[in-house]
Amino acid sequence: MSDTVTLTDNTTGRSVELPIQRGSEGPGAIDISTLYRETGLFTYDPGFVATASCHSAITYIDGEAGILRYRGYPIEQLAEHCTFMEVAHLLICGELPGVEKLAEFQSTIHKHMMVNESLTKFFQGFRYDSHPMAMMAGVVASLSAFYHDTLDIENLEHRAEAAQRMIAKVATIAAASYKRNIGEPFMYPQNNLHYCDNLLHMMFATPCGPYESDPVAVRALNILFILHADHEQNASTSTVRLAASSGANPYACIAAGVTSLWGPAHGGANEAVLKQLDEIGCRENIPKFIARAKDKDDPFRLMGFGHRVYKNYDPRATIIRQVAHEVLENYQGKDRRMFDLALELEEIALKDEYFVERKLYPNVDFYSGMIYHALGIPRNMLTVMFAVARTAGWVSHWMEMMCDPVKRIGRPRQVYDGAVKRDFVPMDQR
Ligand code: ACO
Repeated sequence: MSDTVTLTDNTTGRSVELPIQRGSEGPGAIDISTLYRETGLFTYDPGFVATASCHSAITYIDGEAGILRYRGYPIEQLAEHCTFMEVAHLLICGELPGVEKLAEFQSTIHKHMMVNESLTKFFQGFRYDSHPMAMMAGVVASLSAFYHDTLDIENLEHRAEAAQRMIAKVATIAAASYKRNIGEPFMYPQNNLHYCDNLLHMMFATPCGPYESDPVAVRALNILFILHADHEQNASTSTVRLAASSGANPYACIAAGVTSLWGPAHGGANEAVLKQLDEIGCRENIPKFIARAKDKDDPFRLMGFGHRVYKNYDPRATIIRQVAHEVLENYQGKDRRMFDLALELEEIALKDEYFVERKLYPNVDFYSGMIYHALGIPRNMLTVMFAVARTAGWVSHWMEMMCDPVKRIGRPRQVYDGAVKRDFVPMDQR
């Protein structure tokens, strides 16, 4: 039996046989690239619910079973045993690094963390209270203006350098956005510090005294960054790929990813979760908010709940929930009220028929904001932290895409619903 599917247009009676492409795991995909030529029909799939846009060997998700793997490794094992840098290497290069490879990779990233001094001046152009994601989007895009000599996307060395630069500099730009908000001087990266430690240093150290980050905070940040590093063809990664399909430079493509991540239905959810928990305020108000989430006439949604792919507990949320317990235990002074309220909200929602029927579970961002909050990272920085971690995924997809022999500009079609042809009417007759 051939691996094909036959589609028939019942109006014209025309049939077309389409091949099915199978990967190593997960659902295959009907190859419809000849469909329009053969039948004059497009496919219609708003939100790309059933559309595979590419082949990829980076991340595997089974949403029904709640499985997430990077390059074959279960996310639980990576979160327990690895640092973010090991995982970034895994995503980009395909393998976990040995001692020497990791040292070399880290040293390259550390060397790239400093940004051109004139780039730091850009921040002065932003109002002191600008959202740090707005600064991120602008400043990341402006990196394109600094590396003309290594912007040849057909050159393998240029590509590798751009990928390493992006991962390195996005942390420095994130910290500078924070410093701009709070009016403190920017801190230079320290080559002797590991990536997450370095980021905390750039955010929380001042020139006035010594700073040493808490190992609990560094470990928590490593885990959060590993969990946020990649998630196959999500909205921001698909945005990076679509931007890249035109041959745009990698810095411009990653800036596109930053802007897509910002929305509350995607990476902006972590900030929205904390805002919503504030609005809920106490246990007694939970039923009122659950009722709003269920009301079809109310656009209100329970933030941090639901996922396009996971129809089971998001495996990242399971790990993050545990990390939140550990971090909050170590930060005795921190207010646990918000975390306790979140646990209660989760418990009530998971028993509610509406959420059960629709398989709506907490996603990665339901608990991540609470950990960042406990580490002293303000709300408007939460999506920025996500962007720093996701840059590893974005550049991996960009690198993979650049090597893909099937290189075509991304160009979806549409079903046109507008006016049919009509003749121009002069102004005085309208
Ligand atoms: N609260 C209440 N109802 C919800 C929620 C929610 N959070 N999420 C989905 N639903 C309902 C929808 O109303 C719909 O109900 P219906 O079938 O009766 O019409 C059903 O569940 C399916 O929802 P869709 O919107 O079709 O699901 P989709 O896959 O398009 O959206 C999304 C996924 C955007 C994540 C959605 O669940 C949502 O808005 N969640 C809240 C925002 C959020 O937490 N985003 C972060 C996602 S993780 C990440 O990107 C890092």
